[in-house]
Amino acid sequence: MSTNWPKWLPIRSDLAGLSPYGAPQLDVEVRLNTNENPYSLSEALQESLKSSIAEVLEDLNRYPDRDAISLREDLANSISRENEIKIDKEWVWAANGSNEIIQSILLAFEGAALGFEPSYSMHPLISKVVGKKWIAISRDENYEIGENQISASAGQTEAKIVFITTPNNPTGTSTPIALISALAERLMARGALLVVDEAYAEFSSQPSAISLIKDFPNILVSRTMSKAFAFAGARLGYLIADPKVISAIQLVRLPYHLSALTQAAARTAIANRDALKLDVKRLIESRNELAVALVDMGLKVYSSDANFILFGGFKSSSGELFRALLEKGVLIRDVGLEGKLRVTIGSAQENQAFLTALRESVRG
Ligand SMILES: Cc1ncc(COP(=O)(O)O)c(C=O)c1O
Repeated sequence: MSTNWPKWLPIRSDLAGLSPYGAPQLDVEVRLNTNENPYSLSEALQESLKSSIAEVLEDLNRYPDRDAISLREDLANSISRENEIKIDKEWVWAANGSNEIIQSILLAFEGAALGFEPSYSMHPLISKVVGKKWIAISRDENYEIGENQISASAGQTEAKIVFITTPNNPTGTSTPIALISALAERLMARGALLVVDEAYAEFSSQPSAISLIKDFPNILVSRTMSKAFAFAGARLGYLIADPKVISAIQLVRLPYHLSALTQAAARTAIANRDALKLDVKRLIESRNELAVALVDMGLKVYSSDANFILFGGFKSSSGELFRALLEKGVLIRDVGLEGKLRVTIGSAQENQAFLTALRESVRG
């Protein structure tokens, strides 16, 4: 689609060749393609959300709190409770999904951006959209980051914003915290930032990089309520970083970017975070069971610390297997890695439906 722009349209030449983000949103029975939590919110939480939203309706003629003070206080308290850090609202920023957090970081800071690929496709795409050069460093054959990748990235002095996604999307692999602090130290020495995208941290066995921020103020940790929190439709992402970083981001934020409805809903979800996170344990167990089932089918499974699994080792091409599954009503993700596909962990029935469709398709 991107090559057919009409002549009269003054589209930026550096955007003309790009394609917009476009994970298929199809009306099929089993949707395991965008790493959402498969369980809907409990009825009790839905009721609490209705009352918290009802409370702000009367003031909907007014702009919302543009600094989202109460929400950021709630986030800071819950982050302090769950991590070895004591922070207040000055250390936290909230936005419409972590994609907006990523965009704000890329808008606020200079220099090229760098990432370890394959990884989350929006890091390079948003970088290019804001006019930045993107530098890609390849992960190793198991999609992990080791000393080689750390040294290569530290040596790319043009890059002022380095992304590590851990657990990584689409591979599920985590990066050890010792490597993250080693890279942060080297980047700090040359005035560069390390953005740790922890969209899937709640599913991981690894410690969060949040506890490193006080030692390395160039670490920015991006989180989301779209995955573990089962809150993708509400759009809430947040950033934990040194207060100076948070202040710099204010320079690029749009006025009143976070609606009063979103702020109220997010505060209620945070107040109920323990109940919401009960599903995380279930999903981790299902992930581990699904990994065993895939290995039993003779497939190759990459070690996952997230709520999805990347697998390969099937005979057909990724595209053929993706389509065979779709014909059976199961939508998973072709992430552009030939010979591999990614499946999100769903409910017990969805996982079963996926396995049944996969067995039939692999058998051919
Ligand atoms: C690694 C990673 N970061 C960020 C996001 C964006 O999530 P959201 O904008 O819903 O917070 C995603 C979504 O899939 C992701 O996989």
